[in-house]
Amino acid sequence: MDRVKTGITGLDELIEGGFPASRSVLISGACGTGKTIFGIQYIYKGAKDFNEPGVYVTLDERPELIREDVLRFGWDLKKLEEKNLINIVDGSIAKLGMPSEEEFSLPVTGYDVDKLLLEIMRVIKRIEAKRVVIDSVPALGFNFENTNDVRKAILKVSYMLMRSGVTSILVSEVQEGANKFGKYGVEEYVVDGVIVLHYMGVGTQSNRTLHIRKMRATKHSEDLHPMKISEKGVSVHKIEDEYDEV
Ligand SMILES: Nc1ncnc2c1ncn2[C@@H]1O[C@H](COP(=O)(O)OP(=O)(O)OP(=O)(O)O)[C@@H](O)[C@H]1O
Ligand SMILES: [Mg+2]
Repeated sequence: MDRVKTGITGLDELIEGGFPASRSVLISGACGTGKTIFGIQYIYKGAKDFNEPGVYVTLDERPELIREDVLRFGWDLKKLEEKNLINIVDGSIAKLGMPSEEEFSLPVTGYDVDKLLLEIMRVIKRIEAKRVVIDSVPALGFNFENTNDVRKAILKVSYMLMRSGVTSILVSEVQEGANKFGKYGVEEYVVDGVIVLHYMGVGTQSNRTLHIRKMRATKHSEDLHPMKISEKGVSVHKIEDEYDEV
């Protein structure tokens, strides 16, 4: 099976070299656990280090803020966007019916998940993307009253990503301590992998962890791994590692 290098320091060696190609992986965690940085790093490193074009679909955070925030890690998204190695699809304020200044966004005619999917497909084709991140999946169904409709939308997205052959990350937020991985109880089943990020928020040492909960067709680590967010982005460690090494 082909593997897609994640660009997350220390992760590939825990999953036989990378994500299974053309599959989807769910990144699940509470607020502030690093899901967005993880997703951007996957797209950024994919473009920069492996020359694989990537599409970042943002439904919560505004693109200009993401661009600004990740400059802290030395990641200049704009430069790679100009080369069409990265395209960002803005569904953040557009989903509220406000006009976006972004090149790729939802039309302002009101939120419609099908229109968003068409735009994502168009952008995937446009740059021949190999990687896609949807941040976040629960936000896709933000205006649905019926949970079944949200589930349907999630199924549609995952089917569409599978058909387009990209290797994708779906971001889902769950409450800390919740005994589930997706908000709607369907995300974890439609994906091929589930990675859970935790943040304990106590103590003086880094208290972030990463757990590979499932990775189909992969002999993966079953440990709870220390995870760090530093000026170089996200890195995953082994318990036996000296903590302040990297
Ligand atoms: N430059 C940095 N150095 C170290 N830690 C940082 C840095 N920038 C952000 N962080 C940490 O990462 C967190 C934000 O990460 P991120 O936005 O990826 O989380 P998230 O899981 O997407 O959150 P949300 O659910 O709110 O979208 C911050 O709360 C902070 O703890
Ligand atoms: Mg986020």
